[in-house]
Amino acid sequence: MADIDDIGACVFDAYGTLFDVNSAAEQRRDRLGDKADALNALWRRKQLEYTWLRSLMGRHADFRQLTRDALDYAMDSLDIDDAALADDLMALYMELSAYPEVPAVLGRLRSAGIRTALLSNGSPDMLSAAVNGAGLQDELDAVISVEDVGIYKPHPTVYQLAVDRLDVAAERICFLSSNAWDAAGAATFGFRVVWVNRFGQSRERLPGTPAAVALTLDELPTLLGL
Ligand code: LAC
Repeated sequence: MADIDDIGACVFDAYGTLFDVNSAAEQRRDRLGDKADALNALWRRKQLEYTWLRSLMGRHADFRQLTRDALDYAMDSLDIDDAALADDLMALYMELSAYPEVPAVLGRLRSAGIRTALLSNGSPDMLSAAVNGAGLQDELDAVISVEDVGIYKPHPTVYQLAVDRLDVAAERICFLSSNAWDAAGAATFGFRVVWVNRFGQSRERLPGTPAAVALTLDELPTLLGL
């Protein structure tokens, strides 16, 4: 008996779940030296903080701008004064690698009749660049951006976008995120959630419990009983 049955669609978070957010700074490790790991961590943390803060302030700006703002903050904090490097890192962020298991898992879901979609904070230009760069355009039925509602996850209107676009009830959607806070938000909304804990993080002390925890997306077909 599968843990998560009668699923009509699998909806994936993008950054950190399908796409490797560390791959941009990783490719410039030679120029970042021993600051590479700190930059990566601070860049991601600030990027997410800015999504939450701007949502609370009612001052939306798209994820591309927030990603650049977060990078500028992180470089400033670490005393890296190099505008050309910042431009270069942003360009690399537009073509992040997909995690290795992603194409096969999406193909497996679709061959079982389960629809697939991306639901991300990413702006439409970032998402189409990432999807096309990873060659996933034929493996996804929908690519959904928060830009359609102008507020960031975990606001419930964002998760509602997937229900509306796919025309599948929330309880028949399996949502996957490596971000524990996103998993919590999606679970409180009513999705069946798999937290893909790629980074070995502690669980959040927030409402919303995932139906399952996996280490990579490879575990998904078994969790769905495929
Ligand atoms: C996203 C971020 C949260 O893709 O990873 O929405």
